[in-house]
Amino acid sequence: MLHRTEPWTRACAIILVAFVCMVSNSAKIMITKVDYVSNADYLTMQVRVNNETEGSTVDVDGNLFLDVSQGVSVAIDLDSKMDGEYMTMIGTTKELCSAEDTGMDPVVPLLNDELQKFGNLSFNCPFQKGYYRVRRFRMSDDHMLVKMVPPGEYIVKMDLQHQQPNATDKNPVFKLSFYFEIS
Ligand SMILES: *[C@@H]1O[C@H](CO)[C@@H](O)[C@H](O)[C@H]1NC(C)=O
Ligand SMILES: *[C@@H]1O[C@H](CO)[C@@H](O)[C@H](O)[C@H]1NC(C)=O
Ligand SMILES: *[C@@H]1O[C@H](CO)[C@@H](O)[C@H](O)[C@H]1NC(C)=O
Repeated sequence: MLHRTEPWTRACAIILVAFVCMVSNSAKIMITKVDYVSNADYLTMQVRVNNETEGSTVDVDGNLFLDVSQGVSVAIDLDSKMDGEYMTMIGTTKELCSAEDTGMDPVVPLLNDELQKFGNLSFNCPFQKGYYRVRRFRMSDDHMLVKMVPPGEYIVKMDLQHQQPNATDKNPVFKLSFYFEIS
């Protein structure tokens, strides 16, 4: 499952697997809604959810208008519905173009491994302008990222930003929110 060999990835994977062993076995993911906005200076994007018998799958078509090779960060949050309100359970922010990012978080590498099975979109820097496509993406029920999460209602939020060289502000590039249920 893990193609990366960085020691930190393996260390985290071991911690995650230990955690997974305490949680339930099988899961079904049903996406109920997807919200997204994209910055037309950077890209256009369409996201579709397909309801399939074994759960939901996702199609993405993206058209990136420029090459980007520095200053890209992504924040990924998992919100869980508790007592009728969503609360952030896990949040991670990763610099995608910096070799110095020694972040311990394996979420982005694990997502990249999965994304690459369904198309040519990933969170791998540099980003070259062009058309990107993902077809019928799904997280397998026995993936560790899925098994970590108990049944319930959730939102996964991804917020990708770009900071130009010497700029003080970050530009929003896209924001994506997947509302889903795990049963
Ligand atoms: C998929 O089906 C479920 C259950 O029938 C429904 O609640 C949900 O809204 C559907 N999702 C989409 C994206 O159509
Ligand atoms: C991504 O894949 C699509 C469909 O196969 C292809 O048309 C496109 O050129 C690819 N994009 C890049 C940047 O390689
Ligand atoms: C950023 O600032 C440095 C130092 O002030 C300068 O040398 C460099 O050319 C600037 N880069 C850009 C892309 O403006």
